[in-house]
Amino acid sequence: MNDIVLSGIRSTGNLHLGNYFGAVQNFVKMQEQDQCYFFIADYHSLTTHPTPENLHKNVQQVLVEYLAAGIDPEKSTIYIQSDVPEIAELYLLLNMNAYLGELERTTSFKDKARKQPNNVNAGLLTYPVLMAADILIHKADKVPVGKDQEQNLEMARKFARRFNNMYNIDYFKEPTAYNFGNQLIKIPGLDGSGKMGKSEGNGIFLADDEKTIRKKIMRAVTDSGPEKPNSEMTESVKNLFTILEIVSTQDTVEHFKNLYNTCEIRYGDLKKQLAEDVIKVIKPISQKIEDINANKEFIRKVAKNGADKARESADKTIKEVREIIGVRKFY
Ligand code: TRP
Repeated sequence: MNDIVLSGIRSTGNLHLGNYFGAVQNFVKMQEQDQCYFFIADYHSLTTHPTPENLHKNVQQVLVEYLAAGIDPEKSTIYIQSDVPEIAELYLLLNMNAYLGELERTTSFKDKARKQPNNVNAGLLTYPVLMAADILIHKADKVPVGKDQEQNLEMARKFARRFNNMYNIDYFKEPTAYNFGNQLIKIPGLDGSGKMGKSEGNGIFLADDEKTIRKKIMRAVTDSGPEKPNSEMTESVKNLFTILEIVSTQDTVEHFKNLYNTCEIRYGDLKKQLAEDVIKVIKPISQKIEDINANKEFIRKVAKNGADKARESADKTIKEVREIIGVRKFY
C-alpha cells in the first residue's frame, strides 16, 4: 500500500461543478493508488449551532453526493466523524498540550470570531486540535488541503511533534499538505469573477435540476459583445468558454470561438449550448444522488462499514496513545 491520504469534508458543503471537477475527481483518482480516508466533519460543524434536523440532513446529503460523484466505499474508507468516538478522545488528550495563545492567534479562529461575535465558543478555538485528532488518529501521511487550511495542518504537525517530544517517543508522523497543483482543474463561476463558489447565482450544484441549471446559466454575467474581430475576451466571457471547454466537444468550442472572433456571436446561443452540455454532465450524477437518497439500506451499510473500518484503525491508535500517556486500566 502507498500513502495514507485523509481528507475531512464540511458537512454543509454541497458539491458544485467546481468541487466535482476539482478536488473530488482527484479523490476518485487517489483511491486507486493510496489508502484513502474521507470523512464528514460533523463535529466541526457544531461550532455554528445547526438545528438537529439540518445537521442530520446535511450529513446524509454530503455523504450521498460524494458517493454519487465517484467515491467508492470498497476502495476508500468513507465515514462520519461522530461515528468514531476515538477521535473525540484523542481530541481531549491533545487539548492538554494545546495552548490558548497559539489557538487564539490562528487566522481561521480570528476570522470566525469576527464573523460570529456572539458565538465565540471553545469549539471554535480548539477547531485545529480536533482537526489534528482527525488526521493523527489514522497517522495520515498526506492531507489534501486548500490554502485556507494550511495553517490548521501546520498546527497538526506541531501537536504531533509536541506529543513526541513530551513523551520522548517517535510516535506520530507529521502529515504533509497535498497540493494538487496544476492537476487541479479550476472552474470559474457564473458571476464574472474568480472561481466557482457557493454564492447565489455563481455555482451550479450537482443536485440542481435541469430547470435551475438553465436558469443559472442564462443569467450568467457577460459583456456587450466583441467590438472588433479577434479581440481579447473579458473575464466573464472567458469564464463561460472555460466551462464550455470542460463540458463540451472540441468542435463546439471551436464553433463559438469562431463566432466570437468574427463578432457574430450571440451569447444567448452560447449559453443555451453550455446549459445543455452542463446538464449532460450533471444529469447522471443527480440521478445517482436521487437513487442513493432513496436507498436507505445502502446508506446505512456504507455508513456502518465506513465506521467499522475507521474505528479499527482509530482504536489501535488510541490504545497506543493511552499506553504512552500512562492512562492505564486497573481491570
Ligand atoms: N477544516 C476543513 C475544512 O473546513 C475540514 C476538515 C476537518 C479537515 N478535519 C479535517 C480537512 C482533517 C482535512 C483534514 O475544509
